[in-house]
Order: sequence, then structure tokens, then C-alpha cells
Amino acid sequence: AAAAAAAAAERELDPVTCFLLSTYDDVRVSDDELREKDAIMNLLKHVVHSVRPEADIVAFGSIQSGLALKNSDIDACILLPDIGEEMEEFASECFERFTALGFEGKYLRKARIPIIKLLSDTKNRYYYGFQCDIGFNNQLAIYNTSLLHQYSLIDPRCKQLAILVKYWAKQKRINSPYYGTLSSYGYVLMVLFYLIHVVRPAVLPNLQDSPHKQDLYVEGFNVGFVRGTTVARRNTESLPQLLAGFYGFFAHEFNYRESVISIRQPGGLLKKVDKDWTLAKEHTGSADQVIKDRYVLAIEDPFEITHNVGRTVSKAGLFEIRGEFMQATRLLNAATLHSTSAIRKLRA
Ligand code: GTP
Ligand code: MG
Repeated sequence: AAAAAAAAAERELDPVTCFLLSTYDDVRVSDDELREKDAIMNLLKHVVHSVRPEADIVAFGSIQSGLALKNSDIDACILLPDIGEEMEEFASECFERFTALGFEGKYLRKARIPIIKLLSDTKNRYYYGFQCDIGFNNQLAIYNTSLLHQYSLIDPRCKQLAILVKYWAKQKRINSPYYGTLSSYGYVLMVLFYLIHVVRPAVLPNLQDSPHKQDLYVEGFNVGFVRGTTVARRNTESLPQLLAGFYGFFAHEFNYRESVISIRQPGGLLKKVDKDWTLAKEHTGSADQVIKDRYVLAIEDPFEITHNVGRTVSKAGLFEIRGEFMQATRLLNAATLHSTSAIRKLRA
């Protein structure tokens, strides 16, 4: 116990930990902002109910998983099962009522499944950055959001790492799925992969690989995972150690050419050849556009296991991403080395 207390004290003093924790506090969403976003969601809920009492709207993505940065978008989804042909009419009715309330935005009807984008607000003058993407009946996104949320509750370091990595990726401009790099969701899955399958002892258990999980099938995929348990942590690494380990692993150890990042797979090991994820495939998207699914960076969605979350990453994009992983590893190792020797000198 004395040794653990000494280690904790050393960690508290460690300037790199202090720096990372204060950055984390600066960049993550505040409770105030979350309350505002909650109020917006209630307003939208009211509208959706008034169009169809049996419809509902729920948030998913980072606002809901707890992994949001400041001024984060709201990802939302209207739930109205078995709507079929009437979808278009229902969606445009919702959009009209949102506009009447003072929201400005776009209704993208070209897509087979409509999308509403609310870009600004003229009446309520929200304090925080406002943008809201609304999709329809996207049940799997709601389930994967709650999986991410469940992981973030197990250990505070999980949430800290995920938010720091998301922030770093945005700063480095390697978080642009439309321009060949990776979505935030992809980076969070990489962090979880490291904490579940790479670092030893593990920081997180695999919530999809447990006798206590209850199977549940949604859209043909098993979305079961263990809910509501907290698991004893044996890993005592500090935040800088975990972050440096994460960057180092994806800079120098992970085999991008052959392997698939999979958080649900026991052991985490999957090969591209085994999933037939080798050659890029073209298919037609919901707005009849041609989409190229690449497998340069292979990240299996935890539930929709046929879906590569890294499909947006091009060869050039991966080159950039790995370059940033290497740079981050160097900087973090240098900072840790200097600060440790500085602390030792202080104490001597
Ligand atoms: P920021 O908006 O950058 O704060 O990130 P976020 O954490 O909200 O993640 P992102 O916007 O990338 O994704 C939002 C949600 O979409 C995720 O939490 C998933 O629930 C869902 N999603 C499912 N599949 C995908 C996918 O392939 N790519 C992305 N980007 N999102 C997916
Ligand atoms: Mg989002």
C-alpha cells in the first residue's frame, strides 16, 4: 500500500500527467454545454412527437457516449419503425417544423434515407456551437454508442485517452474521413483496442466476450455486451505511459498490411484475408453515388462486423496518420524522460 501511495504521489507530481489532465479538462465538453444540448434534444423531441406521436428522436455519437469535445455536433436519429413509403413525407414535415422554430439547415432528400442537417439557429441564440445531423432508424449507431459509453465508465483513463486522442487527431488534421483520413469513431475504436487487447495487464475487459453477456440481434447483428459491471483494474500505468504506449504501438508495432483492428474478437487478432478485406470494393451509396470501400486501414465495427470503419482511409492518409503516431511517440517519450529526471533532481 505504501508503494502504491508513493507511486500515486509521484504521478500526481509528474508534470506530463498534469499537462495531459489540464489539456483534457480544457478540451472536453462542459456540463453546461451538455445541459444546453439536452434542452435542444427535448425541443426536437417535442417537434417529432407532434408530427407523429409514435416517433421518437434520440442522440447518439459523442454527446451520448461521454466522449465529446467542446462545441461538439449533435448526432441524432429519428426512430419510427415500419415507416416505409411515408418516410419522405414524414421527414419533410419534421424539417418544416424545425425551420418554423428558428432552425436553419438543409434537408438532403437525394439520399435513399433522408438526412436533416440543422446548421444554425436564429431564435434561441444557443451559447455553444450548434450543429445537428439527424438520420433515421439508425439503431446500430445507438447500440455502438452505448458500448463506447459503457467502456468509458469502467476506467477514467479510457475517457481521458479517447478525448485526448480525438483532440490530437483534429489538431493534426488527420480526422477528415472525406479527405482520406479517419473518423473520430475510428480513433476511439483504436484506443479501446489498445486498452482491451494490447496493453498488459489490460485496462479494460472485453465486454463482448463474456459468459455474462446476453445476445441480442438487431438488423442481423449481435449487439449483446455486458452492461453495468465495473471490473477490478490491475493495470496501474499512468496516463502518459498509456498514451505513449498507444502511439508507440500504432507507430511501430501494428501490422497494417495484414491485420484488422477488432475490439470484439477474443484476443483481438483478425486477418484481412480471413474477412476477405483485401481488395477495395466499389458500391452504390444511398444517394446513388459511387463509394469506394478501401481496406488500407481495417477497423472492424464492434457490431456490424462486415463494416470497415477505416474504409475512408487512403494510402496517403495512412502514411500521414502513421507519421503523426511516430511524431507523437517521440515527443511524449522525450517529455516523460525529461520530466522524470527533473523530478528526481528535485527530490535528491
Ligand atoms: P465528433 O463528432 O468528432 O466529436 O465524434 P463522435 O465521437 O461523435 O464520432 P463520429 O462523429 O465519428 O461518429 C458518430 C457516431 O456514428 C459513432 O459514435 C457511431 O455510433 C456512428 N457510426 C457508425 N459507424 C460509423 C462509421 O463508420 N463512421 C463514423 N464516423 N461513425 C459511425
Ligand atoms: Mg459526432
